[in-house]
Amino acid sequence: MTTTLNTILARIDSLPAARPILLRLLRMAGEPDVGARELVSIIEVDVALTANLLRVCNTPEYSGSRPIATLNEAVLRLGTRTLLQLVITQECEGMLSGTLTGYGMTRSDLWRHSTGAAIAARLLAQRVNEPRTALAYTGALLHDLGQVVLDVFLQSQMKGVVARVRAGQDFSAAEAEILGIGHDALGARIAEKWGFPEQLVLMIGYHHAPKSAPGEQRLCSLVHLGDAIAHWLGIGLGRPALAARFDASVVADLGLNVGDLDQCVIEVSEKMAEKEELLAA
Ligand SMILES: [Fe+2]
Ligand SMILES: [Fe+2]
Repeated sequence: MTTTLNTILARIDSLPAARPILLRLLRMAGEPDVGARELVSIIEVDVALTANLLRVCNTPEYSGSRPIATLNEAVLRLGTRTLLQLVITQECEGMLSGTLTGYGMTRSDLWRHSTGAAIAARLLAQRVNEPRTALAYTGALLHDLGQVVLDVFLQSQMKGVVARVRAGQDFSAAEAEILGIGHDALGARIAEKWGFPEQLVLMIGYHHAPKSAPGEQRLCSLVHLGDAIAHWLGIGLGRPALAARFDASVVADLGLNVGDLDQCVIEVSEKMAEKEELLAA
């Protein structure tokens, strides 16, 4: 084990634990049915989270013309699955919103990339009749979690990584060679340490090589494709976008065709444009 890898792994140990409320929500995303009462009971104990969530529920994208005043109303109007995805998005924003200098990402680039990939993965999951849409969404939202920790180490080793990428290596493989671990495997280790559900650990760890996953290859493929679509649309581009390998065989494996991808790209770009508009307002 190299010194760098030891230092990187020690950094994981010093991370603060994930909030228990996030863990409960993530577990819920892995279940086939989301219970409305249970979801409300998890959220309502956190006053700040509830207030923030109701603020988002009252943006034109969700509320229409009638305001949403309570969580119960939000469940009725949006459905439990959408509300669960919204609250998970709220909970994850803080950890994915910083500037990643090593990855060439300015403030909120990673967050934009993550939300774009998540929206794409959810649409694709619906298209292939995968019932765990909330899980596909969440896996894609968190897929590059490892970059948050690896960024600082990458900054000092960028020359070596760039040289390998120029020689034709995939970005995360170049990270693994120079730093001892890629952001995909590191993200999985963080997810494991925080007690995330197994499916999420796999989706994060294998988002660049879904067919190598020891399980849940379908979910891993949805995240792989969601990530690629965010790259194609130029959403939150950083250095990895220039060197990410796309495994085109997952398209047919999922039962999708080029027309499905075109449709998904259009829908994601429309949804992201709406979000950007709201942010700019
Ligand atoms: Fe990645
Ligand atoms: Fe990514």
